[in-house]
Amino acid sequence: MQSINDVSQALLAQVVTSDTPRDILKSSEIKDLYNQIAQLDPSERGAYGKQVNTLKLNLMSAIEVREAELDNATVTPIDISAPWDVNSRPLGLLPTTYGSEHPLMKELSVVIDIFTRMGFAAIESRQIDDDFHMFGALNFPENHPARDGYDTFRTEENFIPPAHTSTMQHRILKDGKARLEAGGQIAAVSYGRVFRNEDVDATHEHTFYQCEGVFVSETATLGDMLGTLRAFFESYYGQALKIKTQPAYFPFVEPGLEFAIERPAALGGKPGEWLEMLGCGMIHPNVLLAAGIDPTQYQGFAWGGGIERLVMLKYGIEDLRHFESGKLQFLRKFV
Ligand code: DAH
Repeated sequence: MQSINDVSQALLAQVVTSDTPRDILKSSEIKDLYNQIAQLDPSERGAYGKQVNTLKLNLMSAIEVREAELDNATVTPIDISAPWDVNSRPLGLLPTTYGSEHPLMKELSVVIDIFTRMGFAAIESRQIDDDFHMFGALNFPENHPARDGYDTFRTEENFIPPAHTSTMQHRILKDGKARLEAGGQIAAVSYGRVFRNEDVDATHEHTFYQCEGVFVSETATLGDMLGTLRAFFESYYGQALKIKTQPAYFPFVEPGLEFAIERPAALGGKPGEWLEMLGCGMIHPNVLLAAGIDPTQYQGFAWGGGIERLVMLKYGIEDLRHFESGKLQFLRKFV
């Protein structure tokens, strides 16, 4: 028969290295100690029982110490050089081997492709800009309330993450001035990310995409603009469309219009269901003048609208927030 002392020492030694120290309380050694009580002379049982209890108490405190130690144990650091198969399919999901282009980027390419085939140059817009390009060059007077409509963010240095791609108009005009004066035209679209200080909901995002168009020549008319926009939308949706416009105020165009299309039946629309797609108009003489272009000799049109809206209509996406959500379930529908 092992002495209680021997058993105690052996079990305490096990506790300090065990990953499951509490199991030791149920070990056969402990059971044996209890079983031995029955074999003892009744006069010895009291003292023996006390010793066994003391052993258990000691064991308990050692177990608690060990458990705390296991809890605090530092996790083995990840070996980033280990040959993980990052493309494995642990959840039986679709393979992620190649990733995929974001639906907005895919559709943006389609949009740019249509305009470049129509003869427009395409340039990406900036993601940080200044007050002059956001407002001044676009005929927004200082302190004019129209500025408030754009919910602009500003950095501490007073730079502006642009709230519309119209910030590119002045650059496009200046860049094209020489070509125009040599008998050519200015025809460019600018596309990219824009930012507004808005509460996010199903139809508003703080970050979204726009595409802006600028055309200037000696003879450009509003009719040319409507024809250009109709051709674009019909090409993008692959079908004939009904269009309409209504007057709208934008300081950088005169007249200014909102351009709407009737939601096609093929895309779940009912007759008379108009969707406003973009703002447009004839470029204001002050905007041409700011770029050094003579408004008595040249005239042009411009338009600008959101990319998300186009894509949502095309694919029946009901919530704008899906685009920036990073949800694979959504993104995989466009692979
Ligand atoms: N920049 C305007 C906006 O984001 C849209 C717009 C309206 C652009 C009229 C234009 C235009 O070029 O002519 O609300």
